[in-house]
This record gives sequence, C-alpha cells and structure tokens, in this order.
Amino acid sequence: MPLAPVLSRYWDEPRSWTLDAYLLHDGYQGLRKALSGTPDSVIDTIKDAGLRGRGGAGFPTGLKWSFIPQGDDKPHYLVVNADESEPGTCKDMPLMMATPHTLIEGVIIAAYAIRAAKAFIYVRGEVVPVLRRLQTAVAEAYAAGYLGRNILGTGFDLDLVVHAGAGAYICGEETALLDSLEGRRGQPRLRPPFPAVAGLYACPTVVNNVESIASVPAIIHNGPEWFRSMGTEKSPGFTLYSLSGHVTTPGQYEAPLGITLRELLEYAGGVRAGHTLKFWTPGGSSTPIFTDEHLDVALDYEGVGAAGSMLGTKALQIFDETTCVVRAVLRWTEFYAHESCGKCTPCREGTYWLVQILQRLESGSGTEADLTKLLDISDTILGKSFCALGDGATSPIMSSLKYFRDEYLAHFDQVGCPFDPHRSILATGAYAS
Ligand SMILES: Cc1cc2nc3c(=O)[nH]c(=O)nc-3n(C[C@H](O)[C@H](O)[C@H](O)COP(=O)(O)O)c2cc1C
Ligand code: SF4
Repeated sequence: MPLAPVLSRYWDEPRSWTLDAYLLHDGYQGLRKALSGTPDSVIDTIKDAGLRGRGGAGFPTGLKWSFIPQGDDKPHYLVVNADESEPGTCKDMPLMMATPHTLIEGVIIAAYAIRAAKAFIYVRGEVVPVLRRLQTAVAEAYAAGYLGRNILGTGFDLDLVVHAGAGAYICGEETALLDSLEGRRGQPRLRPPFPAVAGLYACPTVVNNVESIASVPAIIHNGPEWFRSMGTEKSPGFTLYSLSGHVTTPGQYEAPLGITLRELLEYAGGVRAGHTLKFWTPGGSSTPIFTDEHLDVALDYEGVGAAGSMLGTKALQIFDETTCVVRAVLRWTEFYAHESCGKCTPCREGTYWLVQILQRLESGSGTEADLTKLLDISDTILGKSFCALGDGATSPIMSSLKYFRDEYLAHFDQVGCPFDPHRSILATGAYAS
C-alpha cells in the first residue's frame, strides 16, 4: 500500500511553519470554502467523510460536533487537545512544529461549524518550542485576518488562545483537561453531563485531538469522496503512524488506514540491522502489545480491535529480541503509577502495587503467585476505574502475560533478568572467583 502524505506532505520544506509556506500549499482554501457555506454543511461534510477522532478512541468527529446544542444562549467552545503525553505517541508535536497553520485553519473551520467564538489549544507545557511556534503562527493568522473580528469579511468572529498545561498525562483526558483549563487541578469529571452539554465553564464544548482538527481543512478543500478514497469503509482516510524504538528509520509515516506494520517497516528500513521483531504496541503503551504474529494485522480501528488490541494513537513502538518484556512493562507501569491522579482507589492503589510486584519479578525475587496477583489487581482496575488511565495501565501487563509468560518464569529460573548481562554473570557465579 503506498504512503499518503497529506498532513506531512511538505514538512521537510524550508520554513514549512510560516504562513507564506502554507499559502503556497492550498493554505486557508478550505476555510474560504467552509465560510461560503453554512455551519451545518461543514458538519455534514465531516460526517460524510467519516473522519474518526485521532486522539485514541476513534469517535466520529462530525457526529461529536453535531451534539452541540443549537439555538441555546450559551457560548460554545472548541478545545484542541495538544497534551500528547502517551508513551510512544509523537505525532501532534511534530505536526504543530512543522505546519502549525494546518491546525489553526482546522480550528477556525471547526469553531465555525459548532458556532464557537472562542477556541483554545491546550499544549503540554514542557514543549516550549512547540508553544512558541504555535503562538507565532496564531499571531500571523490574526495579522492576516484569519482570526479576530469579521474573518475574511464574513462576519464570523473567533479568538484563539494557546494555553500551556503543566505537563501531566491525566490532563490529556478531556474532562481533566477542561478542569485544568479552568484553573483547577486536572482530574477527570463525572459523566454525564458530557462536554457537549456542559464542558468548559459549564458550556457546550467540543474537545478534539490535534490531528483530527488538522485533517479538517484538506477534507473541506478536497471533499469527502477524496477522503474516502483512502483507508477502509469504516476507517476512512489517511493518518499519521509514529514508528519508534528499534527501527532503522523512526519517524512519522502518513498512510491510509488499514496499512500493516509489515508494510510500514518496509518504508522504515525494517527492524534495526541484525535484529528481529519481538513485540510492539499498535497504539501507544495503553494498548495491548502485539508480537511478530501480528505483522499483517490491518492497522485500522476494526482490524486492530479484532486482533485483541486498539489502534489508539497509532504509536508503533518497536522492540527487538534484546528487550526484556518484564522490564519494559515495569517501566510503563511506573509511568502509570506516577501519572495516576489519585481520584479513584483501584487506579491509585492498584498501580502502586503493580509496580511493587513487577519490581520483584524483574529482579528475580518474585514467585508464580505474583503472576496471579498481577492479573488479579489488573482485573480490579480494568473497567472499575474512574477514567481510561486505569484501564490503560493494565494493557501492557495482561497482554505481556498472555504472550510472554515464559519470560516472566525465566526470571525465577535465572534469579534475575535473563537480558541483563550483569545479572546473568551474578547468577552463573562467574564473579565468585
Ligand atoms: C489518560 C488519558 C490521556 C489522554 N491524552 C490525550 C492526549 O494527550 N491527546 C488527545 O487528543 N487525547 C487524549 N486522550 C483522549 C481524550 O480524552 C479525548 O478522547 C480526545 O481528545 C478526543 O479527541 P478526538 O475525538 O479528536 O480523538 C486521553 C485520554 C486519557 C484517558
Ligand atoms: S483511573 Fe487513575 S487517573 Fe483516572 S481518575 Fe482514577 S486515579 Fe485518576
């Protein structure tokens, strides 16, 4: 399957982030077209295209926009989720660095569609270069009349605020993000009410991922049929796959949904020289891992789901045979324990205990009963936590035990990690002399 560079098509051109460069590549043409029609016609186009949210869950974007009540007297808000903190996920930051105007144009079109006069881009605070680049691009857009009062003479007004978060993974969860944006500690809210009814400042709000919104201008400009000519019937279009880890040429590969890892690895020069694929994540660390048996799984929402995982953020982290799966899972679990916001007991307590047990297992002092305990605790968290962070924390554990139970057991036999040369020497007694 050929690659389909749309969002990334001129990322490597000089000064690709400027307004001038954007205008040379159909920049703001989608906006002109959108503003010449009604807001509802924009929503219908996105619905017809079948665009699904790129933030993880794949919820249909046009449908989400259509939930915003019309004719109410409340302000409406558009919030772009640019928190991007999931381990392995690295598509939104490069997009905002390389072509921030794609996102800004998408924001203006989406705000027009949901009748919002104020929009926010909530960016993870640590990524200062991205913040600066976005702020510069927003200033360019204001100066050129794409933002502010009476945009392109149509009477539509929009203000766009770039907001810096403080760098917490949980603030990527959309309701925690809204609390954080309102100035409170970022913790998920009880739903219902959903953000479409009572979101930011208790007003109707759409929260969308960066890539979802950045895909909108091309769809409006080229039409829904063009978008549907790529991908599959239920997962149409192009998307950014991020390859990282033990791969020859890591990076962003933009392709139609439904491409396989085998094909993507061909474009990326394969697993690093002299090594073989051991395991990988299809959608970031919160999605159950796959092995070399899954190289031909279609990387769309349905294909990955049927094979027992989730497409998530399409963050393909590649691990070769030198990686200890127990150690990798421990590292991920430490991340979840650290990032757990503490609001609910299963996740707050469970992730803490999962780390203790995994540390024991990785160092070789665990027992087989610990494996049962890992699964028991995971079962207490999965589906019983307040938000999806808890569910995500169990994915690497449950899936690694499914595919690599023997490797966990090998840690007992070898009294430590079989992949750690130092530990192996200790275990064989080579240090004794
Ligand atoms: C712990 C956690 C972290 C999340 N982080 C992000 C994130 O960084 N960016 C994002 O777009 N969505 C993230 N999400 C998903 C959002 O809650 C939400 O579903 C998404 O922003 C909706 O956008 P979309 O419909 O365009 O996919 C996260 C969810 C959870 C549970
Ligand atoms: S699942 Fe974890 S992150 Fe989510 S609300 Fe509960 S404690 Fe917080």
